[in-house]
Amino acid sequence: MSITIRAEIPSDIEAIYEIEAAAFEGQAHAELVNQLRAEEELILSHVAEMNDTIVGHAAYSLVTVTDSDIVRCFPALGPIGVLPRYQGRGIGSALVRAGLEAMSNTEYGLVFLVGSPRYYPRFGYQPAQPLGFTSDYVEDESRHEHFMVAVLDEGALAEVRGHVRFHDAFHQI
Ligand SMILES: CC(C)(COP(=O)(O)OP(=O)(O)OC[C@H]1O[C@@H](n2cnc3c(N)ncnc32)[C@H](O)[C@@H]1OP(=O)(O)O)[C@@H](O)C(=O)NCCC(=O)NCCS
Repeated sequence: MSITIRAEIPSDIEAIYEIEAAAFEGQAHAELVNQLRAEEELILSHVAEMNDTIVGHAAYSLVTVTDSDIVRCFPALGPIGVLPRYQGRGIGSALVRAGLEAMSNTEYGLVFLVGSPRYYPRFGYQPAQPLGFTSDYVEDESRHEHFMVAVLDEGALAEVRGHVRFHDAFHQI
């Protein structure tokens, strides 16, 4: 079984919608991806292919990190979904790793996400709040460990703190 991760092409768009809708058991995340794409806010959109079938998808958009009057932009992963019948076979892992690999070739140095603290630490993501970041996307303090960051460049971490705001579309789901 080989998994190929590649950037989306226009003919993938319907399959991506179906994957995100099936993975999240509703259309909100699929619509979110469409909105980000329509607003040209998708900085990276990866599909996972197995035997010429698209079985997984991961989206990346920019968040703002605001510290007093300094506003910087960094990538964030989300949503990510794998077709339910293909889950548990390493496809999600391949997508997360490919995203980190792609981002390590950029100047950003940090990648944010909101997701399960049981899943993402294995790839190097860690809770962002202890590193000096806040986010109103995680309003419930007891869930703050769901707000995570992957540090690809310690230099970026040394320079950046602040409030992380995801694209408005994330606040509608
Ligand atoms: C999360 C998701 C993308 C992972 O993809 P996948 O191909 O199933 O993942 P992998 O096969 O690479 O890894 C499987 C591992 O992920 C864990 N896992 C899957 N979904 C998880 C979740 N929501 N929370 C925590 N762990 C999860 C499995 O328990 C398994 O753990 P193990 O390796 O310790 O046994 C996929 O399960 C999915 O689409 N879930 C529904 C959508 C979703 O919840 N996305 C965002 C999650 S934060």
